[in-house]
Amino acid sequence: MTGKHKNVGVLLSGRGSNMMALVEASRAPDCPYEVVLVASDKPDAPGLTWAKDQSIACWSLSPKGIGKPAYEAALDAALRGANVETIALAGYMRLLSDDFVARWSGRIINIHPSLLPKYKGLDTHARAIAAKDAVAGCSVHVVTEELDGGEVLGQAEVPILPGDTAETLATRVLAAEHRLYPQILAAFAAR
Ligand code: GRF
Repeated sequence: MTGKHKNVGVLLSGRGSNMMALVEASRAPDCPYEVVLVASDKPDAPGLTWAKDQSIACWSLSPKGIGKPAYEAALDAALRGANVETIALAGYMRLLSDDFVARWSGRIINIHPSLLPKYKGLDTHARAIAAKDAVAGCSVHVVTEELDGGEVLGQAEVPILPGDTAETLATRVLAAEHRLYPQILAAFAAR
């Protein structure tokens, strides 16, 4: 699309609930972005099935066997072929190479289930509980060459309750992710 709309490509590896939240929010008449491609490194990712059912263009390729450079070249071509302007990572479980990030510099964002800069990487909820933190949450940030390290664009806090397990906390943080990510992507797309 042209004008105030930004074309967004969503990258995922799994169930895709954040992608669904982004797509659903994009249907509001004043939303400044449109999801034009859902791409995955896992051809059997459940999120792809949902996106196909919504008639959104999908692309998938497993890097296994072809190697990262060839996989990323194909991914880059698919994104450019769909006129993607902004990439939103949503449960994309593979590290993008420095080269790929440089080619899309400042145009890739990610949602991470912690209050960055705390708990970069995996097992964020278990680590927050083990540290006896009072609050957990999620962050949307710009993707740079440093893992979970780019500018934080927005955060939502979620209290940690007595008796919380990593699973119960993850469920409440995920609900906050679904509210936060569309808001931040819309603001990012409009800037
Ligand atoms: C989310 O918790 C997200 O923060 C993290 O991976 C999970 C993806 O979940 N990066 P979904 O595939 O969006 O349901």
